[in-house]
Amino acid sequence: MARRKKIYEGKAKDLFEGPEPGTLVQYFKDDATAGNGEKKDVIEGKGALNNRLSEFFMMGLMQIGIPTHFIKRLNMREQLIRQVEIIPLEVIVRNFAAGTMAKRLGLEEGTALPRPIVEFSYKDDSLNDPLVPEEYIIAFGWAGQQELDDIISVALRVNDFLSGTLFGVGIKLIDFKIEIGRLWENDYPRLVVADEISPDSCRLWDIETGEKLDKDVFRRDLGNLTDAYTEVARRLGVLPSNVTHTPTKPTLIN
Ligand code: C5P
Repeated sequence: MARRKKIYEGKAKDLFEGPEPGTLVQYFKDDATAGNGEKKDVIEGKGALNNRLSEFFMMGLMQIGIPTHFIKRLNMREQLIRQVEIIPLEVIVRNFAAGTMAKRLGLEEGTALPRPIVEFSYKDDSLNDPLVPEEYIIAFGWAGQQELDDIISVALRVNDFLSGTLFGVGIKLIDFKIEIGRLWENDYPRLVVADEISPDSCRLWDIETGEKLDKDVFRRDLGNLTDAYTEVARRLGVLPSNVTHTPTKPTLIN
């Protein structure tokens, strides 16, 4: 296949020019980072698992009428997506206290919240993605008031879908992050779910045991990350064969 031009290099994914105008190829790497890149490793199989899992969740969202950037999965590591204008916000939905919220408020991780809470961080690695109030978003023009209202309602619908889907396979959705993009159609921007939805961007706990099945396994050195993601994929029935063994070099077969 012809080499494609790389147009963006991220921590866990790269973006390449797509085959047609308005499309991109999203490539899922095995690289894992935490603490804004302070902790780094390569976890064999992670990229392929996230590609599959993100495909599964994005397809599910589209089936219930929530537009996303996803077009189709191309292979083990790549998916074809629509090119969108990313709104520079991390949209975080929390059902249970964990992570930065638990720390900030001195709450025990796993404490049920009175209702799902949507919060926003401004996407800027050099500032460590600071939490921002809605007023900043409007005042600095990152999104308009109507867009912000729409983003919140999409985020809550995504939360209902993900919570229900994961509950069905014995997993509690603690929190997650999505990104939203503007898809321009005839000078009219439509909001779509972009980036990825995977155990890299969600907190997922086993309902029975509380075992962590997400990136906290890497962030907190709790065990084997690929095993945790494989378990999520297995339960959701999206596990491709030999996903954990992506040969990086030719191997001799006897
Ligand atoms: O770290 P914090 O508790 O704020 O994260 C909330 C949720 O957002 C977690 O599921 C985490 O995986 C996700 N997140 C993310 N990318 C970031 C920050 C948070 O996917 N840069």
